[in-house]
Amino acid sequence: MIVASTREQLAAARKDLRGRVAVVMTMGALHEGHLELVRQARTQADSVIVTIFVNPLQFGANEDLDKYPRTLEQDLALIGDLTDVVFTPAPDVVYPTEALVRVSAGALGDVFEGASRPGHFDGVLTVVLKLMHLTQPDVALFGEKDAQQLAAIRRMVADLDVPVTVLGVPTVREPDGLALSSRNRYLSQEERETALLLSKALQTRDVRAGRALFDGSSATLDYLERVDSTTFAAAPDGDLLVIAAKVGTTRLIDNLKDAP
Ligand code: PAJ
Repeated sequence: MIVASTREQLAAARKDLRGRVAVVMTMGALHEGHLELVRQARTQADSVIVTIFVNPLQFGANEDLDKYPRTLEQDLALIGDLTDVVFTPAPDVVYPTEALVRVSAGALGDVFEGASRPGHFDGVLTVVLKLMHLTQPDVALFGEKDAQQLAAIRRMVADLDVPVTVLGVPTVREPDGLALSSRNRYLSQEERETALLLSKALQTRDVRAGRALFDGSSATLDYLERVDSTTFAAAPDGDLLVIAAKVGTTRLIDNLKDAP
């Protein structure tokens, strides 16, 4: 495994990669969900690049940029055998100048996660496009866990003719149903129990029954809605249930797609 932290190191490592190249983009604090993306990448390509970069552009002023977990040593140990190149740039490598020109997520950036986190998806799309340009992959894999992010990336790639195949990977969960997330490590033991309400609400497959589970609980439901999984327009006959809730100070999201 080659660890590259500058653009020059990445370009040199990329030049030596053989065959079809896959990229898995992450913000680190790697868990089994990330590892599943990397394993799937291995089945899709001859060479795999993992990027680890906590992207300041996608964090709001009151969000957890500073306290977001950074565990590079552990991360490298976890993916060492699964990946050919790891790109771990510092912020000024990715953004040598102010990010004046950005990718706009359009209407997809204004609803659900975008409504709660203004500018978030513009920040995500901007860094994803930059990392695609820097890593030059044939295929890029993203988790269905972040369904709105996946929809926005698919739309960006289509609308801007980006020559990369985007693949979605099903959500990896704890045995009790909790979706794996780097933010789960913020949860106390009690909050970890309460966090189960998200997956339980989705399992009801019913917006009203799911919302009722939050009555009298210590978690604050932000939204539980049925949407169209490509446009994220709220639709009673949509194919995806999406949920976001705050447990303590930690905001968690999850979703469940109807069986085809
Ligand atoms: P991060 O939250 O680190 O997630 C990196 C990738 O792992 C994303 O594609 C995400 O959907 C996927 N992932 C996270 N938890 C998962 C789970 N339980 N099962 C399956 N996949 C999971 O998402 C980001 O970083 C950033 O926004 C990024 C795309 C890297 C841009 O900065």
